[in-house]
Amino acid sequence: MIKTSANKPQLIDRFGREVTYVRLSVTDRCDLRCVYCMSEDMKFVPREQLLTLEEMNRIGKAFIDLGVNKIRLTGGEPLTRRNILSVFKTLGSEENLKDLTVTTNGTLLEKYAQPLKDAGVTRINVSLDTLRADRFKKITRIGKLEKTLAGIEAALRVGFKKIKLNAVIMHGHNDDEIIDLVEYVRVRNMDISFIEEMPLGEIGDHDRAKTYYSSDDLRELLQNHYNLTATTEQTGGPAKYYRFADNDESRIGFISPHSHNFCDDCNRVRVTAEGMLLLCLGQEHSLDLRKVVRANPDASINDDEALKQAIIGAMQLKPKGHDFNLNEQPIIMRHMSATGG
Ligand code: GTP
Ligand code: 5AD
Ligand code: SF4
Repeated sequence: MIKTSANKPQLIDRFGREVTYVRLSVTDRCDLRCVYCMSEDMKFVPREQLLTLEEMNRIGKAFIDLGVNKIRLTGGEPLTRRNILSVFKTLGSEENLKDLTVTTNGTLLEKYAQPLKDAGVTRINVSLDTLRADRFKKITRIGKLEKTLAGIEAALRVGFKKIKLNAVIMHGHNDDEIIDLVEYVRVRNMDISFIEEMPLGEIGDHDRAKTYYSSDDLRELLQNHYNLTATTEQTGGPAKYYRFADNDESRIGFISPHSHNFCDDCNRVRVTAEGMLLLCLGQEHSLDLRKVVRANPDASINDDEALKQAIIGAMQLKPKGHDFNLNEQPIIMRHMSATGG
C-alpha cells in the first residue's frame, strides 16, 4: 500500500474532478422544521448511532491530509450538537485547512458567534427565507425570527466578514420578499444565495414543482431593480455570483441545480452524522466511514491510514451527477437535514 503524503490533492474521481471540499453533518436534529427541508413529524437517528466528536475530528483530519482545504459543518442545526465547539477548535487549528465554515439557522448564533470566531471559523452561512415574523413561524413551523436576526447581528458584531444568507424562494410563500432580503444584506455588507429547492425527502407541505422559482426568473426580477454584473468569483461552493454596480461588498449568488446543472465542476462530498460518506447530494452512492473508524480504534488522528485508503477508494464511487426531477416523487428519500444541508 502506498503511504499517503500529507495534503497533496489525492481525491480524484473517475471523471477527473478533484475533491477539496467536505461537508460534515454533525447532527440530523434541528430546532426548526423548515417546510422545504423536513416533514412535520421527523424520526431522528438514535444518539448512539452518531459519530462521536473524536470520530468527526479523525475523519476531518484524514480529509485534510488528503488535500481537502475547505470543511463546512452542517446539520440539521450544527450548533445544537452538544460540545460541537471542540470540533470547530480541532479542525480550526489545522494549518492546511484554508476555510472552516458553518451553515446554521442562526437561532443559537448570539451565543456562539464569538466562540466560533475564536475557534478559527472563517465564514458563516445563515439560512433565512423571510424577514416577517409570522411568515418565519410558518416556513420554519416553529421558529422565532428575532433569534435568527439577533444571531446575525452578533456574528457581524464579532467581526465575521462575508456572512451569507441562504434563501429558498418559493412561489406563493416568500416570493414577494426577494428585494427585501437583498436590501437586508446590502446594508450589512453581506452576501445572499438564492437556492432552487431540491426534491430531497417527503415534506408533506407543498408541491415542489408548483412552488419552484428558477434562478433565471429571479435574476430577471433582480435586474429590473439593480445593475448586476456576473463575476467569476468562487467560494468553493456551487453558487454563481453577481455584483452590484453601487456596492462593492455584497454579492448575490444563485445555486441552480435544476436550471444550470453544476455537477461537472463538483468538488465536494458529504459525511452524514452517522458517518456515511455520500459521494453526491442527489444519489445514494456511499461508504460507511463509521465502520472503518471503529474497526481501527487504535489509529490516531495523525496516523489513520486505513481510513485514508478507504476515502481514496470511495472516490471511484462518485457518480457523474444528480437526476433531480421536480415532477416526480423524490427518488432520494433522505431529507436535506439527514444528508447535511
Ligand atoms: P459557500 O462556501 O458560501 O460557497 O457555501 P456553499 O454553497 O458551499 O454551502 P451552503 O451550506 O451555504 O450551501 C447552500 C446550499 O447549496 C445547500 O444547502 C444546498 O442546497 C446547495 N448545495 C450545496 N452543495 C451542493 C451540491 O453539491 N449539490 C447540489 N445539488 N446542491 C448543493
Ligand atoms: N432544497 C434546497 N435547499 C434546501 N435546504 C434545505 N432543504 C433544501 C431543499 N430541499 C437548504 C436550506 C439551508 C441549507 C442547510 O439547506 O436553505 O440553507
Ligand atoms: Fe456534486 Fe452531486 Fe451536487 Fe452534482 S448533485 S454538484 S455531483 S454533489
